[in-house]
Amino acid sequence: MKYLITGGAGYIGSHMVNFLKKTNAEITIIDNLSTGHLYNTKDCEFINLDLRDKDKLLNKLHKHKFDGVFHFAGKSIVSESVIDPDSYYKNNIIGTNNLLELIIKNDLNNLIFSSSAAVYGNTNEKLISEEHQKIPTNPYGESKLKAEKLINEFSNRYNLNTINLRYFNACGADPSGDYGEDRINETHLIPNALISLIDKKNQFTIFGSNYPTKDGTCVRDYVHVNDIVKAHYLAMSKFNNQTFKDEFNIGLGLGFSVLEIIQACDAVTQKKIELKYADKRDGDPPILIADNQKIKSILNWEPEYTNIKEIIKTAWNWHSKKHLQHSNR
Ligand SMILES: NC(=O)c1ccc[n+]([C@@H]2O[C@H](COP(=O)([O-])OP(=O)(O)OC[C@H]3O[C@@H](n4cnc5c(N)ncnc54)[C@H](O)[C@@H]3O)[C@@H](O)[C@H]2O)c1
Repeated sequence: MKYLITGGAGYIGSHMVNFLKKTNAEITIIDNLSTGHLYNTKDCEFINLDLRDKDKLLNKLHKHKFDGVFHFAGKSIVSESVIDPDSYYKNNIIGTNNLLELIIKNDLNNLIFSSSAAVYGNTNEKLISEEHQKIPTNPYGESKLKAEKLINEFSNRYNLNTINLRYFNACGADPSGDYGEDRINETHLIPNALISLIDKKNQFTIFGSNYPTKDGTCVRDYVHVNDIVKAHYLAMSKFNNQTFKDEFNIGLGLGFSVLEIIQACDAVTQKKIELKYADKRDGDPPILIADNQKIKSILNWEPEYTNIKEIIKTAWNWHSKKHLQHSNR
């Protein structure tokens, strides 16, 4: 099989590439390396390209054929989107629109899109199902919701197979230690907490301590990156010889507060993360936990990683290995 993967040089995209390589798939990666890394593109056709550049996209991929398209490319930092919403709308919406035009022009089909739980916004419900109202609390979520709508419009108009996968919090790393989260400006909880131990900065900032949650800190649903990849593979397999359009949550259906994650990091690393508190960040809803019944019943998805400490262990393995490589240089 031959796949196009946008954002394949990034965190989740590189795990997808790793998975597909093992199936002997031929892979073409489009990435502008804004947050991704060239080292994630080895053994693939790599096209260094910004999806916002429609002319270049259509020219470079003129007549290219693929069995399916995985669209991971996007900007994804909530706090950054609050400060610079325009760059989020341009990147995530125009980039998606251009990709859809390529799909139509090249007569392609079978698109899986990386959407986000950020499309839902605030909730009073314990678990968020796919039908939950969608009122994003930040421009990032808004950009993902608009991109989903664009995909659905194209899907209806051109009879395309499309699936929007709404991830909750992606985390962990491939157990090989060869792939993981590697960002210059890291904002995600688990990598930041672990890096604070490695860098010996020794202080980790918790944003907000008076949310209406069990301990005042935000609660999220943490799902291992390889389980997200597995969901993509099952979703792509669903397209076999049948027209299919749908959307699914990807999460464990379990909520952990920031403090609980820190405690789990302490337990896994046998170290103590020193904490400091800062004000809430704009745009962060207090609780986001997935109702994952739909993906389990329709795609037969079952997460392999259901224990938060096991998930954190894989991330710790990646960060420790990366640190060792740096210090041996
Ligand atoms: N990490 C999470 O917890 C999470 C949760 C929900 C949804 N998502 C979505 O999943 C996708 C992948 O996330 P990630 O965590 O791997 O992020 P990432 O930043 O590691 O990967 C994104 C990749 O897309 C590339 N990219 C960005 N804009 C581009 C453009 N205009 N043209 C070409 N390449 C571009 C980047 O260089 C990078 O390699 C994103 O769309 C993100 O919004 C992530």
